[in-house]
This record gives sequence, C-alpha cells and structure tokens, in this order.
Amino acid sequence: MSLAAAPWAPDSWKSRPCLQQPDYADTRALRTVLVQLARLPPLVTSWEVEKLRQRLALAQQGRAFVLQGGDCAEQFADCRDNIITNRLKVLLQMSLVLTHGRREPVVRIGRYAGQYAKPRSSDTETRDGITLPSYRGDIVNGPEFSAAAREPDPERLLRGYACSALTLNFVRGLVDGGFADLHHTEYWNLAWAGSSPHAAEYERRVRDVAQALTFMEALAGGVPQYRRMDFYTAHEALLLAYEQAQTRRVPRRDGWYDLSTHMPWIGARTSDPDGAHVEFCRGLRNPIGVKVGPDVGPERLLALCERLDPENEPGRLTLIHRMGAAKVGERLPPLVAALRDAHRHVLWLCDPMHGNTHSTANGHKTRDFDAICSELTQAFDIHRDAGGRLGGVHLELTGEDVTECTGGAAELTEEDLDRAFRSHVDPRLNYAQSLELALRIAELGPR
Ligand code: PEP
Ligand code: CO
Repeated sequence: MSLAAAPWAPDSWKSRPCLQQPDYADTRALRTVLVQLARLPPLVTSWEVEKLRQRLALAQQGRAFVLQGGDCAEQFADCRDNIITNRLKVLLQMSLVLTHGRREPVVRIGRYAGQYAKPRSSDTETRDGITLPSYRGDIVNGPEFSAAAREPDPERLLRGYACSALTLNFVRGLVDGGFADLHHTEYWNLAWAGSSPHAAEYERRVRDVAQALTFMEALAGGVPQYRRMDFYTAHEALLLAYEQAQTRRVPRRDGWYDLSTHMPWIGARTSDPDGAHVEFCRGLRNPIGVKVGPDVGPERLLALCERLDPENEPGRLTLIHRMGAAKVGERLPPLVAALRDAHRHVLWLCDPMHGNTHSTANGHKTRDFDAICSELTQAFDIHRDAGGRLGGVHLELTGEDVTECTGGAAELTEEDLDRAFRSHVDPRLNYAQSLELALRIAELGPR
C-alpha cells in the first residue's frame, strides 16, 4: 500500500520519523498534561476553519490577497493587552493599505495565539564551555541560559494553551466590539505612528477609504458597511503531541479538525513527505501551510502536494516559499512551473524573511529591509511570468518600536540593533518598517 493511501489516525504520525521534538525527562507528567489538554475546549471552531478554507480558495483563484504576520516566537510574557492591541493595529493598518492599493479583499491571518514552539538548527547551545539544550520556544522551555530554564517542562504546554486562549479571547472581543471598524481607523493609531516617515501617505489612504465608504453607504441607502474584519490564527504545528491533543471530530461534519488554530503550517525543517509532520497534517480538514526552502526541488514538492492534498482542492494547500533574495530567481521558477504543469490548485505566499537572515559581528540575527523587498519583488515577477500569481505574504513583524531588522526609511544600521532587540529568536520588522513594506506591496504585482 502506498504511504498516502495508508489509514490515517490522529496518532499515526508516531510511526514516522519525528524531528524537532523536546526530550521530556518526566514522561508521566507529559502524559497527564496531554490528557488534560485533550479534555479542554477547542480554541477555534470548525465553522471558522471552513470559512478560512473558503477565503484561501478565493485567494488561490486570484480574488483575494493574504496577509499573514506576527512574531517569530510569541512569548508568555507578551500575553498582555498593549502588545496584543499593537499587533492588531499594525495588521489592520497594513491590510487597509493593501486593500486600498491592490483593490482586492485581504485575508488577515495572525502568527499568534499559539506560535510558541520553535524548530532549532542545533539541539544544544554552548556558551563559555557550558552546553545546554537549545531554547525551543516558551511552550517547551525558557530562554535563560541555565540548566533549570532549558529543561523541557510539560506544564508549559498548558500555559501555552492558556495564553493562546487569552489572546484569542481578547482579539475576538476587540474585533466584535468595533475595534476593527473601518469607520474608526483612529483606534488603530500607535503611539509611535507619527514618527514613521510614511505616516502622511498612510493618512492619505485612510482619507481615501473614508470617502469611498461614505459613497458606498450612500448607495446602500445610508446603511453602515464594513463594521468588522475577520482575523484568523496560524502557527507552526511543531509539537505533534500538543496538536494531537487538540484534534477532534465535530458533530455533523466529516473528518478531523486540529482546533488549536485555524491554519497549522509545517516548517521547512519538518517537511519531509515521509515524516511525522506531513503524516499528521495529511489527515486534518484544516487548510495546511508548508514552508518551502531553497533545498526543495519539483519532485519533492509534487510528492508533498500528493500527500497533503490528494483531491487537489482549492484552499487546502498553501505553499509559503522562503528562498532568500539571492536564490529565489533560480530556485522558485522550476517549482512554480512544475505545479502549474501538474494543474495543482495551490495558493502561493512569499515569506521574504527566513531566507534573508544573517548574523552581525556582535551576535544579533538580523535581516535587511532591502533584501526583504528584493525577494518580494522577484517573487511577484516570477509568478506573473509563469502565468500565475503570488497570492499573499508571510511576515515576521510586531507593532512595537523594536530595532531588529536593518534598513527601511529610518535607515536603521547594525549599530542601532542593540537599542531595542527583544526577539528571542528571529528579527521582526518594527511598526514603521511593516507599514512601509505594506505600502510597497500595495504597488507590486498584478491587480
Ligand atoms: C518560522 O516561520 O519562524 C520558521 C522557523 O520558518 P522556516 O520553517 O521557514 O525556517
Ligand atoms: Co522565524
């Protein structure tokens, strides 16, 4: 029997090679936590998951654009009102700019409410002759460099679940209460918005949208429109025991849903078509994302599509390429051509962050704004030249005024990075850089 046709169960991933899992010393405590997690209510619902699938199908057909963004790694300490609202504000501002500039609806997907587990290139980290397990995200262990902090702790799985629920609850309350109302864009202003070199251009677009809204509402007989905007969540489905505990059947629907998030994605390091992560995701009804790095060739990508999306359903599979500005021109075109020729209905997003990371002399991981823009510009062209379309972007960003990526209109240099480098993992675009990038994307690619 071929692997793809073998029976699937929520735990069938356990028979496959499973990379990037923590090594828990106390397996009894782990089992107890997983039983608790399996009893707790789901974080999202199957209705929402199905709705996102439909929206992604529209994006795949060229009728919407996807904005996926948030932290590289959420931190428990950042499960706070102002951090959550600031992230929502920057995503709302970016989505307004994109809708206005590109003249198409935007599907908003946060990298939040569950983005707590991180794959690492090395299992251990050595400092001054001392070697400890690597930090794998707050849901596994702590970032401090001590044996106690780095010990994987099963209780953290419950805390990750709780912080995800608290974040989602607050976001839902804000959105339902009117925070995302297009009539009140003033709610979205950030304290440091005025210092952005692009504030004036943003304001001009806001005024344009307000006028268009007045016009539309006059046409509709004075009925207010666009009072709310939907937000969906996504995270890397890395810790399969955690994801399995949240995977359920629901009444009156076929199949299984991972209800820890709307859209789980498979990271670049765990995307082996025969590996545990692909096996787990293959049996879910959720839309699935897969990161595609420069080492993936057409054959492997076709095998992934066959395994994850045997029915070739629009909205099911999102491929998030992350090649780097120097490689995208060579590595992406054969992949796009192979899937086009195989008549595959995949949605393509570009992650211009993860292929453009480098370390500075004083040990910061950073990314340069120009490299990010260059990869994005090339990606739009490559898809268009192949007769297709880039359907959206996947970004690491924050609403905070951090200094983690260089460049942008404020011309941040490597010397500036020490000032406000707060990420424990990858560098994020700050508020001004995020808005600037949205303004660029609004001008790029086909309408
Ligand atoms: C990430 O999205 O933070 C990540 C680790 O990406 P990738 O799997 O593409 O390296
Ligand atoms: Co990252």
